[in-house]
Amino acid sequence: MKIEYDKDLTRQNTFGMKVSCACYVEFDSGQDLSDIYEESSRRKFPQPFFHIGGGSNLLFTKDFPGTVFHSAIRFIKTLSHPDRKTDSGVSGVEVEAGSGVCWDDFCSWCADHGLWGPENLSGIPGEVGAAAVQNIGAYGVEIKDIVKEVRCFDVVTGGMRSLSVKDCRYGYRDSVFKDSAKGRYVVVSVVFRLSSEARPRLEYGHVRKAVEEAGGGLSPAAVRKVILEIRNSKLPDPAVMGSAGSFFKNPVVPKSSYDIVENYAKGKYGQEYEVPHFDAGSGFVKIPAAWLIEQCGWKGYTEGNVGVYEKQPLVIINATGQATPEEIIALEYKIIISVQNLFGITLQPEVEHV
Ligand code: EPU
Repeated sequence: MKIEYDKDLTRQNTFGMKVSCACYVEFDSGQDLSDIYEESSRRKFPQPFFHIGGGSNLLFTKDFPGTVFHSAIRFIKTLSHPDRKTDSGVSGVEVEAGSGVCWDDFCSWCADHGLWGPENLSGIPGEVGAAAVQNIGAYGVEIKDIVKEVRCFDVVTGGMRSLSVKDCRYGYRDSVFKDSAKGRYVVVSVVFRLSSEARPRLEYGHVRKAVEEAGGGLSPAAVRKVILEIRNSKLPDPAVMGSAGSFFKNPVVPKSSYDIVENYAKGKYGQEYEVPHFDAGSGFVKIPAAWLIEQCGWKGYTEGNVGVYEKQPLVIINATGQATPEEIIALEYKIIISVQNLFGITLQPEVEHV
């Protein structure tokens, strides 16, 4: 376990906010967590406690007065082999990855081993533990589709607990870890159920066309390569430009709210115009927040040190590297209010504000 006091967190958050925390702890095992949360040692660490992964989905709004914990548990191992049959009767390979493994390193490892599962999620910043908490998703796949179980330290009982994918109660960018059990479980590792048999999921947008045009055949590595190319053409590289990926969730609204949006669009662009949207079931419709934000004129907008990414308006950027949390929050509110005024829809941030 590594402990640092008055730690600068600029490199621990992809937005590049220049904030610090009173104490920063890197833990290496479930045993470390047990030691940290043991009654007598708990007092050694300033409160409150907060766990981060790659810091790629959060906005530090100020210096953090307590202890920030980060997993340095970094291993990937195969637990079962291709010939073993899973419950559904198909061949599966179970792979366990430590919570501190860089998510894209895991995707790369799977592609190198010819394993299908996370290839569409390639290139998403962050680490394995936070990916499972957040139910990361991209290009028609969510991590919940390949998670078998999440192994955690339970701060309430002080012991280890394994949560099945059902226990995780996954929803769109949501899980039990963000909801009813917030703060209770610290992810130690995640067990994935992958496949050595071809399982491509190419239906999202132009993914199939791009894979066919690439002409490299169909393999996890080939799909991964195409996904990385698509991502790089649309999303800023956090190593170059500070951001936390999608700042807002795509709103799921009643059909009556969608009708207002559609009327607006047909009035502006003509009756033939199709608003991008997806049926979310039970009379609800999911509308890309990117489209709503673009309609309000924000795409490519900059103001002081912050801006809205020119190729994907769902992403707020630290344009100069000098942005403050206040500037980001001011822009966030302006965007929310403008979308509310034009469409009557209230965008919810996807990024956690700390
Ligand atoms: N769109 C616009 N203008 C734009 C860009 C997009 O109108 O400039 C509209 C288009 O209609 C497009 C639609 O938005 O078809 C969807 O765009 P995109 O495929 O880029 O996906 P998204 O819904 O905006 C989500 C995730 C991303 C993920 C992509 C790809 C959320 C909040 N975001 O974005 O995840 O990479 O799908 O699957 O669900 C993240 O979570 O940080 C993230 C980047």
